[in-house]
Amino acid sequence: MHHPIGEDEFERYWDKLEPDKILSSLDLHGVAKWIRSGKANNIVVMVGAGMSVSSGIPDFRSPGTGLYDNLQKYDLPYPEAIFDLNHFQTKPGAFNLLAKELYPGNFEATPAHYFVRLLHEKGLLLRCFTQNIDSLESQAGLSKDKIVAAHGNFDGAACIKCGAHADPESVRQTLELDGEPSCAKCGGLVKPNIVFFGEALPERFFTCAHNDMPKADLLVVLGTSLTVHPFAGLVGQVSNDTPRLLINREMVGQADPTFGPTFSGGFFNFGIGNTRDALFLGDCDDGVQQLVDLLDWGLEFDALLNKTSATL
Ligand code: OAD
Repeated sequence: MHHPIGEDEFERYWDKLEPDKILSSLDLHGVAKWIRSGKANNIVVMVGAGMSVSSGIPDFRSPGTGLYDNLQKYDLPYPEAIFDLNHFQTKPGAFNLLAKELYPGNFEATPAHYFVRLLHEKGLLLRCFTQNIDSLESQAGLSKDKIVAAHGNFDGAACIKCGAHADPESVRQTLELDGEPSCAKCGGLVKPNIVFFGEALPERFFTCAHNDMPKADLLVVLGTSLTVHPFAGLVGQVSNDTPRLLINREMVGQADPTFGPTFSGGFFNFGIGNTRDALFLGDCDDGVQQLVDLLDWGLEFDALLNKTSATL
């Protein structure tokens, strides 16, 4: 292509219009280079249901395969009712059946989970914030202090009436037998500590978000539609010059253009003026494998995948 001002001059002119890039390229290569150069020592990882799909647990919102398209057997007025406290109070059976199916122990951690553990073994992981209730991060051997279970998990259970704690193991046994866990003190319904819509997230989510996000020197977001808040808002809580990588089957977390540029701080910017948001469109396991290869971490990664998970 010819330009009246000459090719070199045109490129120099164009470079001036484009703000300086923080990542050398806005893809896995750029992120690998950032890590290799020693600039990423406090990596924050954000995880959603897409990361567990290859273990056999469906995500929520993928059309056709997602849980919300496959809830016929639970007889719900609308899909999200499965995580609705009012609905649970009158008809606990739907959630209890789902809980029985999803209980940890029935599924294996994925390569992407082991990648997060590898980041920790390398001393690079500040925190892993997960929306998932499957505890596969722990199963991959990540220690509890590195995990923030933003939407809870099955490690605890409590009565929804009087708040008394219940033994999670006996709750599990009751659910296994298709029973209805109830409170030994008041007879109220007992549910595992999964955060339902309208319920507060654990305090740990807010303290860790407050302390960790400003310290992050790389954000890696894996397998989430970024539609549920406050979790999705974490993307905008890292500093403005912190690189962010999205590994997902579809592009998510973009500002609605009708809101205008003032909103863009809280979202990815994969368009004009992007200096730091890298995108890998595809499966989590493929994305992390490519990143591992670019980092020359293949041997350690394979060793982790092949050995049983001892908690760090
Ligand atoms: P969603 O189901 O909303 O989004 C999953 C995302 O992962 C979608 O963008 C998929 O395209 C993508 N995806 C699916 N499989 C993938 C794969 N193998 N590799 C890469 N990407 C893949 O799940 P979440 O964002 O986690 O709340 O949903 C957030 C919350 O909504 C959940 O925590 C849950 C739900 O209501 C509670 O459980 C309380």
